[in-house]
Amino acid sequence: MRNIIIDTDPGIDDILAILFALKCEALNVEALTTVSGNVPVEIATKNALKILEIANRRNILVASGASRPLRKDQLTAELIHGKDGLANMNLSEPTIKKVNLSAVELMKERLLKSKEPITIAAIGPMTNLAILNILYPRVFSQIEEIIFMGGAAFCPGNITSGAEFNIYVDPDAANLVFNSGVKLKMIGLDVTMKTILKKDKIENSNDFGGETYKFFRRLINNALEIIPQSMEKGGIALHDPLAIGACLSNDILKYKEYDLKVETEGSEGLGVTLVDDRSWSQSKKNAKVAVEVDNNAFIDLFLKTLRK
Ligand code: BDR
Ligand code: CA
Repeated sequence: MRNIIIDTDPGIDDILAILFALKCEALNVEALTTVSGNVPVEIATKNALKILEIANRRNILVASGASRPLRKDQLTAELIHGKDGLANMNLSEPTIKKVNLSAVELMKERLLKSKEPITIAAIGPMTNLAILNILYPRVFSQIEEIIFMGGAAFCPGNITSGAEFNIYVDPDAANLVFNSGVKLKMIGLDVTMKTILKKDKIENSNDFGGETYKFFRRLINNALEIIPQSMEKGGIALHDPLAIGACLSNDILKYKEYDLKVETEGSEGLGVTLVDDRSWSQSKKNAKVAVEVDNNAFIDLFLKTLRK
């Protein structure tokens, strides 16, 4: 069993990732912490609460985090995720409440109190993690591993030609985390753009049951209406769910170790992740970067797990 805190900006694929994680028997979701990214943090927090309500997992703690990046102006992605972050499903307000601690304080508390190691699945911009590192470096160093969705090592970006959204939104935060010495796994666009959930996979899955499935189906159908098809080739890229998949022990992803950096200055290259692939390089490797994915195996696992 692996204990995880999901640091998230829900967001359509964040919600899919959370639902997936909640159903994975090998994962114990300790808490959801939210951050501004796809939508402002207030909406992200509401969405996190709402999904726990829908999945009937009201006991999981939710804490609200950073409302803007460390240094850059805030950037959101309602064009992709809808004004409500959930493909314009316009759900009712959640009835459960967030805790009275900030995301950083809740992470700190869980890291200090938990008897078991905790992995952070970071599926939004890394602002909360950077603040945890700045304020409580010793607690931060207790994180077992940060498995993050973000970056583009050897493929195009999705927000600029070279940068991926989560990293581009707060490159300074990513820079701090990359240089922190924590164990890192990067699940970037190199692999997530290969895990496209197509509509026919869902329509064929009529044996799903329960409220969670009905919600999942509605979300996918709405999302397919609003996500520009040119971007994700006729389906939905399972960016964030794949990072949850990386928290499980299986051989769906293959990694290579690299010296991973991020560009924090300039305009054209801002937020671009750089991996040092020179065979002669002496640079210190700080991250395992996912370079290959068995996308069919992952999509099967994802659907099978949601079907439970
Ligand atoms: C990442 O950016 C967000 O829009 C998604 O939720 C995902 O975390 C993909 O680039
Ligand atoms: Ca996300």
